[in-house]
Amino acid sequence: MAFVFCFAVSLLLSMWSTAKCSGIPEGALHMECRDRYFVIAVDLSFTGDEPLFEAVDGTGVYAITRWYSAQCGYSVRLLPLLGHVELRASYFSCHTDNKDDEVFLFNFNLAVTREGREDSYALNKTCSPSLPWSPREITCEENYMEVSVRSEVACPARTVKDDWSALKPAHSSTTSDWQVTFQRNEEQLPPMALSDARKKGYAFGLTDGRLVFRTPYGQPESFSTEVNGVPVEEVHATLFSRQSWVVLMVDLVTACSMYEGSYDDSGYMVWRTPEVPYRSLHGTQLNIGLNGELVAQPVAEDRRFVVGNINATVQISVPLTAEGGYRKSFVLGDLVEIYVFHLYFEQILADEHRVETRVRFQRTLSTPLLPHPVFTVNQTVVDELSFTVYLGDVPEDVELVALHLNGDKFTVDFKNTRSHNITKVVHPNNTLGYILMVPFDDPVVLLQFSDDAVLHYELNINYTLTILPENEPFHHLTSVMAFIDASPPAFDAVCSTSGISFSRDHRPYDSLWEISIGSDLLTPELAAKHGYIMSNDSQSLQLMVPLFSHGYKYDRVTLKGFYGSFKILMRDHTTSEVESSAIKSCPFSTNELILCSTLGRMTVVADMSLAIPSGGLPARFNLVEKLCGAKEKNGTRALFSFPINTCGTAIKLSMGNVTYQNEIFYSGKVHSDAAERVMVQCTYPLASLHRLFTTFRFESDTAGVGSIIHTARPISDMSLSIEPTAALQTTPASPAVARMHADRPSTRYSRVPSFHQLASVLKRKSTRIQAK
Ligand SMILES: *[C@@H]1O[C@H](CO)[C@@H](O)[C@H](O)[C@H]1NC(C)=O
Ligand SMILES: *[C@@H]1O[C@H](CO)[C@@H](O)[C@H](O)[C@H]1NC(C)=O
Ligand SMILES: *[C@@H]1O[C@H](CO)[C@@H](O)[C@H](O)[C@H]1NC(C)=O
Ligand SMILES: *[C@@H]1O[C@H](CO)[C@@H](O)[C@H](O)[C@H]1NC(C)=O
Ligand SMILES: *[C@@H]1O[C@H](CO)[C@@H](O)[C@H](O)[C@H]1NC(C)=O
Ligand SMILES: *[C@@H]1O[C@H](CO)[C@@H](O)[C@H](O)[C@H]1NC(C)=O
Ligand SMILES: *[C@@H]1O[C@H](CO)[C@@H](O)[C@H](O)[C@H]1NC(C)=O
Ligand SMILES: *[C@@H]1O[C@H](CO)[C@@H](O)[C@H](O)[C@H]1NC(C)=O
Ligand SMILES: *[C@@H]1O[C@H](CO)[C@@H](O)[C@H](O)[C@H]1NC(C)=O
Repeated sequence: MAFVFCFAVSLLLSMWSTAKCSGIPEGALHMECRDRYFVIAVDLSFTGDEPLFEAVDGTGVYAITRWYSAQCGYSVRLLPLLGHVELRASYFSCHTDNKDDEVFLFNFNLAVTREGREDSYALNKTCSPSLPWSPREITCEENYMEVSVRSEVACPARTVKDDWSALKPAHSSTTSDWQVTFQRNEEQLPPMALSDARKKGYAFGLTDGRLVFRTPYGQPESFSTEVNGVPVEEVHATLFSRQSWVVLMVDLVTACSMYEGSYDDSGYMVWRTPEVPYRSLHGTQLNIGLNGELVAQPVAEDRRFVVGNINATVQISVPLTAEGGYRKSFVLGDLVEIYVFHLYFEQILADEHRVETRVRFQRTLSTPLLPHPVFTVNQTVVDELSFTVYLGDVPEDVELVALHLNGDKFTVDFKNTRSHNITKVVHPNNTLGYILMVPFDDPVVLLQFSDDAVLHYELNINYTLTILPENEPFHHLTSVMAFIDASPPAFDAVCSTSGISFSRDHRPYDSLWEISIGSDLLTPELAAKHGYIMSNDSQSLQLMVPLFSHGYKYDRVTLKGFYGSFKILMRDHTTSEVESSAIKSCPFSTNELILCSTLGRMTVVADMSLAIPSGGLPARFNLVEKLCGAKEKNGTRALFSFPINTCGTAIKLSMGNVTYQNEIFYSGKVHSDAAERVMVQCTYPLASLHRLFTTFRFESDTAGVGSIIHTARPISDMSLSIEPTAALQTTPASPAVARMHADRPSTRYSRVPSFHQLASVLKRKSTRIQAK
């Protein structure tokens, strides 16, 4: 329920005495004395539909009907926003017992019809106004004007003189009774007897010290005018009485601003009253307040009321946020609101004789229906991978009850058990805000993946809000989107002498991608298996791939060096499809190198320094078959590149491997005085060579393992066993090139010169393996 209302009610509750009346529930009835009137307030929940008040005095019981109340000084208002009905009774109202204008007793009945039964409660309230009566007091109530004047000042000299003309008709009267004559504008109406005037709705009373005159608005004798653009209703009555040869005359003027109030768009409800006809010659004092509470002008201004005097008109601007104002939300297509203020306003003026006049106004001001749109703000921060949407300016009598997120309904329970959640914020200006957070990966979020690798997240929100207490629903829609450039992560790559280093900073949505080397997912285990050096902290991923480790490809082999390249694949996390790759090619140089390609090409860079006979010229090398010379040579180093089954290569089958071996000779033959022989060989797993038999072309699933074997003992025949002194081995699976020392004779080689012969050997071998 609205904060303003609750506050106002509790304020009233704390101030008002609660009458304990048998039958009326405690708290349902409040009676209070105000400076010039009684206030009786009864809860609508108790009275049900409009209750009936009856004024009671020694002469009888008088129903306070609409017409009767205007005539007799009562004002009944239904205040649904406050939930009660209020009766204001002037201390000079017709049936109030008055003791010396100081103690007033109001006896009344409250008649309530419930479930077809009428209950009547006899109640009374006694009040003694703390504020002394001013010589002249005017009350502009909602439904009547009342003026009371002190009897002594009722007949100032000026008035007698000015209204001398009013005496004339009095002379012609034969009765000594009081009569009244009205002046409408400049027109003097014929006098009438008080009893006739009373029948027309006018009330006259004489208390101990005061003369009271009251009139409903809109009487035929009243006149409406406009003063400085403000509508005013004025009644000018002159009471006179001829007693023997003395004529008594009382001039009673009452004028009230009928301005209904206007709303200015800056957030103020404006009300005006012209300074005339009660022009003050000695300064005007203003008191302003809401709901019958008056405070002095400076205090009101502290409360953001604005009081101005424009064009001889007093203008009061009530801020919409004023305490004691009432607001209510409605749905009229969109959300609208209305503010209602019960303005109480008092002017204290003094005329040329310093005779004080108090003018009081009771006015209900209400704004037009003002739009009060709720709004949403997209507070999404894409890096947080979550939608954040703020729904603001929700009035306090409006409650968020449900949400449709992309069509799925969720109730708002603030328990936040789901991945999305909603938080309520209460602002000092009595509006509410709701913060909705929905992670991008929440199942309700719509996701589209566009061709240019941009993730498109979309959340359509349909807020269901209801207005309390009626529970009338309305909806507010908004749609938020977020775009994420989900292009595959890019790696930085740096060459070093020992390998290639890849690095990449983590991005929040990297989980969309997986990294693989060939077909293998990059994991710490894979890295360990292949000798990659991987470090992965919260900031970045570093991967150092040593040269010759698994996954390298080599090309552009020359004596000066060669290029090694390594490729990292980025696969879509869900489909495992390769979306992009990072490939880096680096120049490397080694003294020796042997590569055994999948297509059966052996590429060797060998250092022949110890295989050159003493006195021999460098750079004259060939393979077993003398015609197969070096492709490139420089001093003691030579580069050969040849298909493995040519150039006199020997082949050896052993335990699932095929080994191709050749030898590099200095100038065509073995020189017995050379320090060593240089053997080169490639070993392929037999299982990877099956395609050979279908294509008659060398093709291996894997690259072969190459070795350059430097043996010390000169050998004269290929069939002799060799004892290597050192060997260089290049394997696709081993992390580094090493110069190895083999200390045992290992393999016997037979010479198989023809490719077709080899094929038939392999075929036999293979069928045997397959038959197993
Ligand atoms: C006023 O009401 C009280 C109880 O409600 C009652 O005791 C008292 O007699 C009443 N006074 C008059 C003057 O009616
Ligand atoms: C003062 O009132 C007159 C008459 O209604 C109007 O013409 C004039 O514009 C007003 N001046 C200001 C400053 O409001
Ligand atoms: C709400 O959700 C967001 C994103 O899922 C999360 O960061 C936040 O901690 C959650 N807040 C609460 C109160 O649950
Ligand atoms: C209330 O305060 C909040 C937060 O300061 C602001 O966003 C909102 O616009 C204010 N509403 C009104 C009606 O002033
Ligand atoms: C919003 O939700 C309400 C309640 O389910 C529904 O009636 C209304 O059609 C929805 N509005 C839109 C635009 O989807
Ligand atoms: C909402 O905010 C996000 C992040 O700032 C932005 O990408 C998007 O364009 C905004 N607008 C809408 C309508 O979602
Ligand atoms: C690196 O660490 C992040 C978490 O910090 C993890 O999400 C990612 O899968 C890791 N990457 C690899 C290749 O292990
Ligand atoms: C031969 O090798 C030497 C030393 O390694 C080098 O300086 C020279 O440039 C090379 N010559 C050719 C033609 O490659
Ligand atoms: C086949 O050759 C590889 C590489 O040299 C070696 O690791 C493996 O042990 C050999 N297999 C057999 C059965 O000799």
